[in-house]
Amino acid sequence: MREIRQHLLSFLLLFLGCACVARGYVNPIEVEGKHFIDSVTKQPFYIKGVDYQPGGSSDVTSDKDPLSDPDTCVRDIVLFQELGINTIRIYSVNPDLDHDKCMSLLAAAGIYLILDVNSPLENQHLNRYEPWTTYNEIYLEHVFKVVEQFSHYNNTLGFFAGNEIINDEESAKRAPPYVKAVVRDMKDYIKAHSARPIPVGYSAADDLDYRVPLSSYLECCENVDEDISVDFYGVNSYQWCGTQTMESSGYDKLVEAYKNYTKPVFFSEFGCNKVLPRQFNEIEALYSKEMYAVFSGGLVYEFTQESNNYGLVELDSDGAVRLLKDFDMLKKHYDNTKLPTADDVTKAAAADSSVLGQKDALEKVPICEKSYKNLGISGKVADGLASDFIKNSVDIMKGHYVNLEENDFTTTYDIFDSNGNNWAGSKTIRQVNSIDATEPQTKPGGSSSASDGGSSSEASANGANGKKNAGSAPVSPVTAIAISAFLILINFF
Ligand SMILES: *[C@@H]1O[C@H](CO)[C@@H](O)[C@H](O)[C@H]1NC(C)=O
Ligand SMILES: *[C@@H]1O[C@H](CO)[C@@H](O)[C@H](O)[C@H]1NC(C)=O
Repeated sequence: MREIRQHLLSFLLLFLGCACVARGYVNPIEVEGKHFIDSVTKQPFYIKGVDYQPGGSSDVTSDKDPLSDPDTCVRDIVLFQELGINTIRIYSVNPDLDHDKCMSLLAAAGIYLILDVNSPLENQHLNRYEPWTTYNEIYLEHVFKVVEQFSHYNNTLGFFAGNEIINDEESAKRAPPYVKAVVRDMKDYIKAHSARPIPVGYSAADDLDYRVPLSSYLECCENVDEDISVDFYGVNSYQWCGTQTMESSGYDKLVEAYKNYTKPVFFSEFGCNKVLPRQFNEIEALYSKEMYAVFSGGLVYEFTQESNNYGLVELDSDGAVRLLKDFDMLKKHYDNTKLPTADDVTKAAAADSSVLGQKDALEKVPICEKSYKNLGISGKVADGLASDFIKNSVDIMKGHYVNLEENDFTTTYDIFDSNGNNWAGSKTIRQVNSIDATEPQTKPGGSSSASDGGSSSEASANGANGKKNAGSAPVSPVTAIAISAFLILINFF
């Protein structure tokens, strides 16, 4: 009798153990010195991702953006998992649309989002040549709406304040102070209203004239108490084409240029298409110890085939997907990519004394210089345009996770492999995180104080269907029933 009872007990423990280990909540990612880290496990987080904007950036309308249709989200998340990625970047969204279900599905699949706050629509981006005409309250309200809505999802990794705004002589003369102002405004808004510190960065066209000056200018502060620095820096790099080495591609120079950077740097776009199908051999270099002490991974440009010919998949007009040869190639490389652990990173940094150490990165506040080569930084940006929004927040639907049903995870769209046959993979998302409906997280201690974000005690959850269990351990109903059954059995013996 006692033996049976012991068996049942150990079985129960094993069962409970599995249920708890297999699924956790989505851990927010934070910036610590030169690295992204998982805020719970404290392991470094390396971006292994793709850029995602089906239809191109201009396909954002009043009723559609990349995260507004759960059916296409499921279809594409199935393929994100096939590629083995952990992050996507989206260039434009419409904050008036509902993104809860797509964000919940991404979170359940273990995929993070880096989101650009601008769009090609009027009043939703800076004019690079006359930024003073577009840096205004209408524009800032749009920016804050995107920030406000997406800051409530744990799988929002960060925001891009701008993408390639500085890309020629004229824009370099005029736009830099405006980019810096938008970064500052977003950081102030997040400090005032977000439950956690969500990093804000910039995504740069990699041009030798601006590579070092622009990244340094966006990193600098006027004094040690100030925090107007970008939290991370994205580089759009297309210089490794076909078969190359660290030296022939110039990746060695890129590493050199960012060795002293005090914040995470990564490729916000990469994947030269001058040699097709793309081989993606640069991935081996990017996640090697030659690079990972300085670069935190990258995002391949881009998921869907558009007119500029960088696609991994082709979409039919009926929503069916055709995988391209580039998809197979990228999957092969990402499958073989081992992301560095904290130990690996420490060792790689220690092996090269010219790399700024993590400790120095944490302590060093780069103070702004009087001038930066090739950049105009003296333009006077209008003051205080953001202050009302920062004081009172903006009025927009706050994102929150929703409950997902079993059949939400399966796509009904046709998927064809790169030979044109029905794709043999599973059309169901693998659930790696448990997602329960949540109320939007609120900043602890009221919404308008500007004290440090810090960690949030989650608002009690009460989902659309009244299921009230976020904040407690992730135990599914099936698990609960099984546990009860075991407990009854044990009592019986
Ligand atoms: C979000 O992250 C926080 C901090 O780790 C955690 O307490 C919370 O449960 C997470 N929420 C969800 C819905 O995953
Ligand atoms: C990095 O910092 C060192 C020491 O301050 C300096 O000598 C070196 O020029 C810097 N490298 C770059 C690329 O800025």
